[in-house]
Amino acid sequence: MGPLCLYLGAAARVLDPGSTCLSVRRPACDSVAVDAKSPTGRDEWTTPAHAAGFIARRPRLGRAADGDAVMDEIIPETVRQVLDLGTGGGHLIALLATRRPEATFVGLDASPTMLAAARARFDGTARVRILAHDLALTLPVVGRFDAIVSAFAIHHLEDARKQTLLAEIHERMRPGGIFANLEHVSSPTPRLHEQFLEAIGYGPDEEDASNRLVDVATQLDWMRTLGFADVDCVWKWREMALLVGVRT
Ligand SMILES: C[S@@+](CC[C@H](N)C(=O)[O-])C[C@H]1O[C@@H](n2cnc3c(N)ncnc32)[C@H](O)[C@@H]1O
Repeated sequence: MGPLCLYLGAAARVLDPGSTCLSVRRPACDSVAVDAKSPTGRDEWTTPAHAAGFIARRPRLGRAADGDAVMDEIIPETVRQVLDLGTGGGHLIALLATRRPEATFVGLDASPTMLAAARARFDGTARVRILAHDLALTLPVVGRFDAIVSAFAIHHLEDARKQTLLAEIHERMRPGGIFANLEHVSSPTPRLHEQFLEAIGYGPDEEDASNRLVDVATQLDWMRTLGFADVDCVWKWREMALLVGVRT
């Protein structure tokens, strides 16, 4: 498998002995300054039961399948290189690969359980690479992409990191590239939040402790400010929203 690194501050911890691209000498893989004590999604997603439980729920997670369908519709069939941030069990890659047989995919995740699930799913599929990476840290340089996608992952990051990540996403795309983020966004009121949890079959105690939910308008503003064009929320159901922007 390809290069796998998790960078903790200045010191690089190489997770995969076969690593080739992300060495200590590659500054593009250096850590950004993050508070090591800040909880991020990687903490709870390292729990095998949590990760496996989500994979089992994913196909029937409220109306997520409708958001997936719009994602599949808006990503051009002509894309050749696609990056999936927080790929989990590889749900989005499997979805997009079906109608894009020429495309190659890179999936990033920090959860060992998710990485194992995705690798098992795409075992023997040369056009899919699954790499370990903590999204709290600067995106590794693993190519230039026609599309960068993500589903229900970025909301685990602190808000400041969400914004620096958006800037890195913009920078890693080719001109004309599209970013599509099927995201868990915040509700306008606590009651609507409770209703969302009920609608997706989650009890109050099952909510991810690392969720850092942000409303749609704020996220679209961030994208516009960072230079994305044609920014829009192209689909929404309760706390699920598909946020899209392109690099001109
Ligand atoms: C709700 S799951 C979604 C998985 C997949 N995108 C899907 O739609 O099925 C969230 C994913 O984000 C990953 N994740 C959370 N925090 C992360 C972080 N800091 N770095 C990398 N991945 C992270 C988790 O390991 C998990 O696979």
